[in-house]
Amino acid sequence: MSVPFIDFTEQNKAIRPEINAAWEGIIEKSSFIMGPQVKKFEQEFAAYCGTKHAIGVNSGTDALYLALCALDIAPGDEVILPTYTFIATALCVSYTGAAVKFVDIEEETYNIDPQKLEKVITKKTKAIIPVHLYGQMANMDEIMSIANKHGVAVVEDACQAHGTRYKGARSGSMGKAGCFSFYPTKGLGAWGDGGAVVTNDDKVKYMVEMLRDYGRTDRYSHKMKGFNSRLDTMQAVVLSAKLKSLDHWNDMRKKVAAVYAEELKGVDVIVPKLASHREHVYQTYAVRVKSRDKVMEALKAKGVTSLIHYPIPIHLQEAYADAGYKKNDFPVSEKVCDEILSLPMFPHMTAAQVKEVANALKESLS
Ligand SMILES: Cc1ncc(COP(=O)(O)O)c(C=O)c1O
Repeated sequence: MSVPFIDFTEQNKAIRPEINAAWEGIIEKSSFIMGPQVKKFEQEFAAYCGTKHAIGVNSGTDALYLALCALDIAPGDEVILPTYTFIATALCVSYTGAAVKFVDIEEETYNIDPQKLEKVITKKTKAIIPVHLYGQMANMDEIMSIANKHGVAVVEDACQAHGTRYKGARSGSMGKAGCFSFYPTKGLGAWGDGGAVVTNDDKVKYMVEMLRDYGRTDRYSHKMKGFNSRLDTMQAVVLSAKLKSLDHWNDMRKKVAAVYAEELKGVDVIVPKLASHREHVYQTYAVRVKSRDKVMEALKAKGVTSLIHYPIPIHLQEAYADAGYKKNDFPVSEKVCDEILSLPMFPHMTAAQVKEVANALKESLS
């Protein structure tokens, strides 16, 4: 039996009638841009995250970029982020003209290591971007206390962490702003691109709302040089329909992860670890194995698709050669990049499929 990396067939089947009906209504009215459904989704998503505001934008990358712009981050400033993340976390900093300052990760959670964070803070530091990787939040108590001590803003990259919690607080709700991607494969995924900024700060809300729409106050009055980065009405209804089931789908992911953990007991594989005060929603089920590339090939031969999130840390990417880092600067991230392997994971994955992957993995290791 071959096992796909992701399969949303069942998920899509359940919500399709509701979305089809809503799409008909949008087509009828031609309200493709900023239809009332966008505001409706924003209110629902803010309520879900436990924040005062949510502002829909056209991607997670833009959510991060516009949040940094709203905080006036500009050339001459520095922004701290983990080197082990998707490149977009760094790109959005570079778009502002600020310098990226990388920090290594914790080996247990793959999130930014608060112990190594404070050393990197300088007078130029304007923000810290903790990334809640794979579906588990970073150590927010320590990060917030360091940030508050130094008067630095925290912008959460929650692009992989829809609905997960730290001491009961939803991802995105603890920092000055939280940024989400609704890329189709995410825990809450659109049927195209999409993103959102959530915040309790009225100024951040005002700025992001204006920046996403050409910086305008009315149709042809422009207060600032903004962008075109709105959430499509068609996507807003997909997201509203899916949001209702997000907690249920996250629970299904946790059940899939529990079967993996059981099946992989005693096997020479490092499975995801749940840190204290946290929840893991397993947007990605990443394990660590020795001889990763060979294992991946063997899995492929058995019909199991696996992926690598991520093979190269950002400080060693060609695009960031100018940032002045070198090999061995961040040993934990570099080691994890060599061993990490993402296994199939989606809410409707059956126990039989998980067992198939686990058996294929055991055979690949032997
Ligand atoms: C950690 C992280 N940050 C940012 C992004 C960017 O989101 P998008 O693809 O919607 O621009 C992603 C998406 O993959 C991500 O995983």
